[in-house]
Parts: sequence; structure tokens; C-alpha cells
Amino acid sequence: MPAKLIVGTQWGDEGKAKVIDYLAKETEIVVRYQGGANAGHTVKVGEDKYIFRLIPSGILYPRTICVLGGGMVIDPDAMFAEIEELEAKGIHVAGRLRIADNAHLLMPYHKEIDVLTEEASGAHKIGTTKRGIGACYSDKVNRQGIRISMLYNESFYTEILPRLIEQKNNFLTKVYNAKPVVFETIKEKLLTLREKIRDMVINVPYYLNMELASGKQILLEGAQGTMLDLDFGTYPYVTSSNPTTGGALAGSGISFRYLEDVIGICKAYSTRVGEGPYPTEIFGEEGEALRKAGNEFGSVTGRPRRCGWFDVEVVRHAARINGLSALALTKIDVLDNLETIKVATGYELNGKRIDYFPSCSVNDVKVIYEEFPGWQEPTSHITKLKNLPKNTRKYIDALAKYCGVPIQWISVGPGRESTIALK
Ligand code: GDP
Ligand code: IMO
Ligand code: MG
Repeated sequence: MPAKLIVGTQWGDEGKAKVIDYLAKETEIVVRYQGGANAGHTVKVGEDKYIFRLIPSGILYPRTICVLGGGMVIDPDAMFAEIEELEAKGIHVAGRLRIADNAHLLMPYHKEIDVLTEEASGAHKIGTTKRGIGACYSDKVNRQGIRISMLYNESFYTEILPRLIEQKNNFLTKVYNAKPVVFETIKEKLLTLREKIRDMVINVPYYLNMELASGKQILLEGAQGTMLDLDFGTYPYVTSSNPTTGGALAGSGISFRYLEDVIGICKAYSTRVGEGPYPTEIFGEEGEALRKAGNEFGSVTGRPRRCGWFDVEVVRHAARINGLSALALTKIDVLDNLETIKVATGYELNGKRIDYFPSCSVNDVKVIYEEFPGWQEPTSHITKLKNLPKNTRKYIDALAKYCGVPIQWISVGPGRESTIALK
């Protein structure tokens, strides 16, 4: 059963791409299954740094096929900008990219609506990446979206698109007093697009299940993280898709029977970008110091990421929902200089201990912390578990025990080589 799934266990930016890049060398096909250009997936190879938004992080291996799955919302402008950037760096994307015919197109008006909705929400804004994600998924759910396959049906341009644009313009002009979009401009854009992508568009469930049946290795690349999941995250401060295992199946179309491993990626501490509850957030100078040590600034928006301690309840929640078989613990080196490291080992709600992550009332939980002595020596150069400082190993062992999932990889730096495999 050769499909492996990589999911974020916290609020995104856990270092998923670093681990995907590390694992992709053994993989023939890498599939993104949800989200869109809200993702910022960083891979460092030597002195080169790549930040992927839509293209799967496996593209750096010259023989890997990369698939944009049906659960994605694809902004074609962002996709072509990314392809051009990669080609300019000598990474040949042509011929290795497949696009699901059931993926949705993210249109310029989705980005505009995202921005306008955030502005109109004032203190209740989500703090989105402004990439149009929520607006595009809303259209999908509302059956007003544009699937890639529709572009190849002539009646789409005469019967469906005019109605969609009329509805959009009603919304833009009447709700937001914004400028209408022009039907002819959008039609032309879509007609050009369909020729540019014609050779890449495929039926992804057919392709993937067939390749799996023939014994190929597939890696499913999640974007965002469990706590940003539309159903299992800190709603409404979430993204508009399901980064979790259920979303991986729905967004790729592979049969669950092929799923071998579900690998959860977690930082050795935690971060969050945007608004919403965050029980272990560290404020003030201590938070600032961690942000600096971890270089915690959004790779898409440049926004400073909120930083906090490792929260066992969050990762246990992720383990439960995703069926995690292993964890990859990243950015352990960021804690190198700390004297003491705190870990949230549980919550109290209304004076009672709870051992689950609550669906609401997250702001009301009292966090129970345990303190661990730091190691205060560098770890980035270390390649074997036994060479890590004793206190680092104690910290890692405690996290695995509390989370109830074995830690299989430890990442001590952004590069491929800074990875300790435990078996
Ligand atoms: P993703 O969205 O989960 O792929 O994560 P991002 O790429 O948004 O953010 C992770 C950041 O941490 C990137 O800048 C990575 O290069 C960096 N990174 C990943 N693993 C490590 C690590 O073990 N140590 C350090 N210091 N940086 C890391
Ligand atoms: P990767 O894949 C971290 C956050 C936004 C905001 C919320 C909703 O790099 O881990 P959206 O634009 O999706 O409607 O924003 O979700 N968010 C992320 N945070 N990493 C990401 O992706 C994110 N994608 C969205 O900051 O709080
Ligand atoms: Mg990221």
C-alpha cells in the first residue's frame, strides 16, 4: 500500500515542505490535494530556497510527477508565475505537471471578495492570506464555481458563464459597491487558459489509483494544518478546506485502502498566523525572541507569526483525527538557546480537567504546563539521535509519550541534510 500522507498537526507552517522534500526522493508522484496559493511551502537545497504555493514540493526531483488535485482552488496567474520562476531557476516543470479536471479555478474576483470581506469584518476579520480562498470555496459549495473541465464545454461560455458573472456583479456592486467585472475579459482569459493547460488536465482519481495499482509510490502533500481545518480547527478562524486525512482522500480521489502512513508534521514549539484562539501563545519579549530565533515570518504574506509553546492537546487532536502513524518533529534547533522550555500537557475547562481539544470555548481553557530544562548548545550539525544533547532527547521522548505517536524524524535545520531519521 504505497501512498503516504503528510499533514500539518498545528496551525500550518510546521515545515511540511522540508519533510516532503526529504521523503520525495523515494517517491514517483507528489499530489497537493487541497488549498491554493494561501500555502507557502519552503524547501532549502544548498544555498537555494524555493517557496511553493500551488506546485507540489516534489517538483525539485527531475523525474517526479506533480499533481494538483481536485480539492484544490487554482489561481492560474499564481500557477504560471510559479512555473516561470521555477523554469528560470532551471527546474523543468513542463511535462511533469498534471491538473485535476475537477479542481476549481480561483478567479480575480475571488481575491477581490476576500479582501473586501476582510475589510468589512473589522474586529471580526479572520486574518486571511487574501488569496481568495474562502470566496472560491464558497462558490464551489454554492455550486457557482468554475471547474477546470467546464472550460472545454462550449455551452459553458454561452449558458453558464454569463449567469455566473451576472451573479458575481450583483454581489460586487450591491453588497460592496465595487466595480463590476467584464464578461468578455473573463471569457477571453478562460479561452486562453484552456489552451495553455490542455495537455496537463487529467482525470486524477483514475490516474492515481491506476498508478497505485501498478505499485507506484505516491506522496500526498497537505497544506495548512489540522487546527486550520474547516471542521476540526478553531472555527471560524480556519481556512476553507480540510487539510486532514478526510480532505486528502476527497481532494485526491485515491482509495483509502492505499493509504499506508499518515505522517504528522509538528514544530518543536508552535506558531500561528492570522487571528483566532491560541492557548499557548507567548507574548512580549519572550515571544519576540522565539520569533527571531525561528525566523517566524509568513512565507506568503511576510506577516510575523505568533509564537507559542508546544501544545500536546493540539497534536493529540491531530493524531486522533488524522490517524497519525508517525510524527516528524521540526525546528528543534530553534530552541537551542533556551534555559527552560515549557510544554502544555493538558487543559482545564470550568475547573475540570479535559483531555480533548474543545470545539469552542478555546479561549476559556486554563493551560497546564510542564517545564523542561533546555540544552543550550547547538544541534543543527547533528545527524544521529545518540549525538543530540541529553536534554534534547529527554524533551523529544516526552513529546512522543505525551502525544502517543512515535517520532520518526527530527529536523534540526531547513536543509535536506539537517534531518535525523530514527529508523
Ligand atoms: P510549511 O508551510 O509547513 O511547509 O512550512 P513553511 O515553509 O511555511 O515554514 C517553515 C520554515 O521553517 C521554512 O522557512 C523552513 O525553511 C524552515 N525550517 C523547516 N525545518 C526547519 C528546521 O528544522 N530548523 C529550522 N531552523 N528551520 C526549519
Ligand atoms: P501552509 O500550507 C499558516 C491561515 C491564514 C488565516 C487562515 C485563513 O504554508 O502551512 P485563508 O487565506 O486560507 O482563507 O486564511 O488560515 N493560513 C495559513 N497559516 N500556513 C498556511 O499554509 C496557511 N494558509 C492559510 O493566516 O489565519
Ligand atoms: Mg507555510
